[in-house]
Amino acid sequence: MGEFDGKVVLVTGAARGIGQAIAVGLAREGADVALCDLQKDWLSETADQVHKAGCRAECYDMNVADASSVQEGIAAVEKDFGRIDVLVNNAGITKDNLLIRMSENDWDDVLDINLKGAFLTTKAVARLMIKQRSGAIVNVASIIGLIGNPGQCNYSASKAGIIALTKSCAKELASRNIRVNAVAPGFIKTKMTDALSEDIQKKMLDGIPLKRFGEPEDVANVVKFLAGDGAGYVSGQVLTVCGGMVT
Ligand SMILES: NC(=O)c1ccc[n+]([C@@H]2O[C@H](COP(=O)([O-])OP(=O)(O)OC[C@H]3O[C@@H](n4cnc5c(N)ncnc54)[C@H](O)[C@@H]3O)[C@@H](O)[C@H]2O)c1
Repeated sequence: MGEFDGKVVLVTGAARGIGQAIAVGLAREGADVALCDLQKDWLSETADQVHKAGCRAECYDMNVADASSVQEGIAAVEKDFGRIDVLVNNAGITKDNLLIRMSENDWDDVLDINLKGAFLTTKAVARLMIKQRSGAIVNVASIIGLIGNPGQCNYSASKAGIIALTKSCAKELASRNIRVNAVAPGFIKTKMTDALSEDIQKKMLDGIPLKRFGEPEDVANVVKFLAGDGAGYVSGQVLTVCGGMVT
């Protein structure tokens, strides 16, 4: 018996990295999972792992930055599963540059995917959760949205935005028994962080009190807590998962 038996969880950006670990982690607790990413054929590895956990996985093409793609995707999930108990807004990108060199396109792309994407998905799923009179939403923010970082003004603004979105939605949706929280990971080993130079990675490690980079499963465990009944009286909160970097 798992904590999420009979529950339907939707994860955006579920093809790899943190999103994959969240989908598989929740499936190991019994959740059936709607897996969304830019292209559904990228999701086969995650779907295989969900099946190995003995749960149902369906894959959907969904560009979170595109309102019609989100609407079509959520409608398909509703048709296939009939409900959504947990939404995890995980899809995100970086396009780093110093402020004075940052192009308007790189600003827009990051804000569109990381922040508008969470708005569009939350709006579409909240309609369903309001009808159900229950639900839990977990947004994947970042410690960079709390403390800022040189070279990431677009990313930090998007992640600060998602934290504010979390708090407002938590207040709006509480009366419908829907909780909304955020996790703020620090440095987690994924393809996103593999792209950073060794020098930057070493500097980051020096600043982590627990003296190791996080694993995607470290984030998935905290998402599981926030999405589950153990956090039934927790809403509008941001939980950092960063080895003690931000206190
Ligand atoms: N890795 C870290 O250290 C770290 C730290 C803090 C926060 N985060 C956040 O965690 C989340 C996942 O990051 P990751 O490290 O696993 O990254 P990743 O690049 O490994 O995975 C991101 C996934 O999102 C998908 N995606 C990108 N654009 C999309 C779109 N428009 N619509 C749907 N899916 C889209 C990608 O295809 C990919 O599967 C992101 O929101 C990221 O900002 C990561």
